[in-house]
Amino acid sequence: MLVLGIETSCDETGASVVEDGTRILSSTVASSLEFHKRYGGVVPEIATRYHVEVIDYAVRDALDSAGVRLADIGMVAVTKGPGLVGALLVGVSFAKALSYSIGVPLIGVNHLWAHLYSGLIGRPDIKFPFIGLVVSGGHTSLVLCSGIGKFKLLGQTRDDAVGEAFDKVAKVIGLGYPGGPAIEKAAQNGDPDAVRLKPPFLGDGSYDFSFSGLKTAVLYHTKGKSIGAKAAADIAASFQKVAVGSIVEKSVYACRSKCINTLIVGGGVSANGLLRSRLSAAGAENGIDVVFPEMRLSLDNGAMIASAGYLLHKKCPAKPGLGLTAEPGLEI
Ligand code: KG4
Ligand code: ZN
Repeated sequence: MLVLGIETSCDETGASVVEDGTRILSSTVASSLEFHKRYGGVVPEIATRYHVEVIDYAVRDALDSAGVRLADIGMVAVTKGPGLVGALLVGVSFAKALSYSIGVPLIGVNHLWAHLYSGLIGRPDIKFPFIGLVVSGGHTSLVLCSGIGKFKLLGQTRDDAVGEAFDKVAKVIGLGYPGGPAIEKAAQNGDPDAVRLKPPFLGDGSYDFSFSGLKTAVLYHTKGKSIGAKAAADIAASFQKVAVGSIVEKSVYACRSKCINTLIVGGGVSANGLLRSRLSAAGAENGIDVVFPEMRLSLDNGAMIASAGYLLHKKCPAKPGLGLTAEPGLEI
């Protein structure tokens, strides 16, 4: 079955055609990133208007690149939440109209589930249960996944999401938006031990995270100083080391305490090289198979929505219909 996946939860307009949940025939991603830069973060109104302008082209491009016609599509899958309400509504409304007009089922997909299931693409050997780690701009969560659509939240951030902390720290040290890739790049020239930042202490046996203290520590460290390139690189490297360290520690703890030896990582921050190498090394030490999505699937995209939609549809077949609504506050 060919599934058309549509993603519009934040600033990326994603459209993709995926065959049987695993073979990605195309994945088009258009981004309004450039228009948000001058504001230092995503402006919901701008993101929404951009989706309206490009969604039609993104879908056409996904179909053309896959070499298929609309009539070949067997189902439409769309992100129903969580995300920015206006942005989600564009994708959901478009998907409803399109699926109705071609008479195929429509399925609404939880964006966080899709981030985790993207680790399953190309890894048919992975069995349930697994521990899922979502690290994105809006979420930092550890979950236990025992089957398709079966998630139990183990812990999450008590304040800022890790991606949000990367973005805010980057802003403070003048690296611009989006902060994650900018911090990673600057950190390559920095000394990770230059600035003493205390790791968040949540040593109560919980699976929770906290990143706002780290961000505040950077704010205090920089107060009243002019930050040159070397100082920014040192702060970036020091912050990245501590933030990544805390994620690695809690993730390994979750796997060990639940006696589960598969960890699937998803969300924008899973593109981070240090997180990838530190988690993989910790996994090798502890007998945990650490699975990252392909790099192009780490950031928001339509392929992960099509793929997750297909998995959900196989378990509980979707029907044609117009009942779907955007759910901006949807939880895992
Ligand atoms: O999953 P995503 O594309 O959108 C949300 O669902 O939030 O994640 C975006 C987040 C942003 O905070 C961005 O700064 C962060 O992922 N990010 C990174 C990297 N690439 C993106 N953080 C650290 N290192 C990266 N290389
Ligand atoms: Zn995301």
